[in-house]
Amino acid sequence: MALRQIRTEGDSVLTKVCKPVTKMTPRLQELIDDMLETMYDAYGVGLAAPQVGVLRRICVIDVDGEHPYVFINPEILEQEGEQTGGEGCLSIPGKVGTVTRPQRVKVRALDRNMEEFELEAEDLLARACCHEFDHLEGHLYREIAEGPLRDAEEEEEEETGEGTEAAE
Ligand code: NI
Repeated sequence: MALRQIRTEGDSVLTKVCKPVTKMTPRLQELIDDMLETMYDAYGVGLAAPQVGVLRRICVIDVDGEHPYVFINPEILEQEGEQTGGEGCLSIPGKVGTVTRPQRVKVRALDRNMEEFELEAEDLLARACCHEFDHLEGHLYREIAEGPLRDAEEEEEEETGEGTEAAE
């Protein structure tokens, strides 16, 4: 496994629509391992393949540090409710923004063995799914954030006890 370089806003790879995965390969398995390692190394809760320069519909999410999910060719089947809260992105380092997302989503995807699974996610996991799947369409959360993004460090000082926003 190896750390991959995280592409940041301004890199055109982040604005492209990713291609579906049709066949698992050793190279893609290595990519997935590297994405997980890179996400944990950066203290993120999610990472999408375009963020490491690969235009494939793959993302990884782990919102509690104990349950890593790999999503290949994910789609949101159902969504319900609304949550408004802080969101960050490893490709927009040091910033947070307020984003409204569904409270719950039902997702269908393939796992790293190309087996189909469905997942009902809520709260942060639902937010992370929406955020990562947007990356696969070439979208960053800045596009849907309320107003301009804020400085994450200043935010921490103001919100005592709230901790940092999750970066995805
Ligand atoms: Ni992101």
